[in-house]
Amino acid sequence: MIVLGIETSCDDTSLAFFSPGRGVIGELTANQLIHEKYGGIVPEVASRAHMKNLLPVFNALVSKSGLAPVDIGGIGVSNGPGLIGSLLVGVSFAKALAFSLGRPVVGVHHIEAHILSNELGGEELRTPAVVLVVSGGHTCLYKMSTIGRYELVGNTRDDAAGEAFDKIAKLLDLGFPGGPAIDAAAKSGNPRAVEFPRAMTKQDNFDFSFSGLKTAVRLYVEGLKDLPRETICDIAASAQEAIVDILVQKTMACAARHRVSDVYLAGGVAANGRLRERLAAECERRGVTYHAPLLHYCTDNGAMVACAAAKHLAQGRDDKLDLDVFTRGPVTSWV
Ligand code: KG4
Ligand code: ZN
Repeated sequence: MIVLGIETSCDDTSLAFFSPGRGVIGELTANQLIHEKYGGIVPEVASRAHMKNLLPVFNALVSKSGLAPVDIGGIGVSNGPGLIGSLLVGVSFAKALAFSLGRPVVGVHHIEAHILSNELGGEELRTPAVVLVVSGGHTCLYKMSTIGRYELVGNTRDDAAGEAFDKIAKLLDLGFPGGPAIDAAAKSGNPRAVEFPRAMTKQDNFDFSFSGLKTAVRLYVEGLKDLPRETICDIAASAQEAIVDILVQKTMACAARHRVSDVYLAGGVAANGRLRERLAAECERRGVTYHAPLLHYCTDNGAMVACAAAKHLAQGRDDKLDLDVFTRGPVTSWV
């Protein structure tokens, strides 16, 4: 079955065709660069841009994939968590298409799609496992007993890791989105230049907090007379190291507590070079197998939604025209 995946939960309009046998058949994304000038995503602007982009992206994807709409066997769409207006555009489009083609449509939890993006490299997920989901809106640890059965075992108390990257980049005038900019600047910086706080690492739980780090960086920057490029790179590297230290420490403790031998990364921040390097090294040191999505599938994309939808559709699920959107909430189990 060829599945169309639709992702519009935030600022990317991303569509893909996926089949369980063939993998990704075609994919196309329209990024919304318009938000750069605001230094963050403006929800109303995002939903209007999805309205403008969705049909042209769909038509271009169909023709570039050499398919016709009737070849679509089922449709999956991110229906939450995310920006309500953005989600509504994608879900309305998905329902209209499913109705006109007479095909099933399923809502996909955006975080489950990120988790399952680990299969887009061609390997089936190994369970039980611990998954670190790190994105612009989430920083959580899930125990995945099997595909479709998830338990939220750790969460952020305030900012998400991606939000911390974005806000720190803004303080350093590195542009938006901040994660890739910090990742790049940190390559020429010294991660030991400034000792930023590592919140909650002494606590015996799997929760996170990043708002103190953001404040510490702000106070440090305010105390400087000027901000030459080398200092920016040192601060970027030091802040990144603090974030990575926290993420790696909590993930490894969680894997040990739940006695799993597989650890997965997922979400936009999974693209971070230092996080991938440090988590891989720590897993190897402790005899745990490390897995991360292909770089291309870390940030929001339609392929991960199609891949997750294929599993739901295979169970015979069809949400029909009742499908609704939601703004928050953890992944729920469905097996
Ligand atoms: O998963 P995603 O595309 O959207 C959400 O679901 O939130 O994640 C976006 C987040 C942004 O905060 C962005 O700055 C961060 O992922 N990000 C990175 C990197 N690439 C994207 N953070 C650190 N290093 C990166 N290379
Ligand atoms: Zn995401």
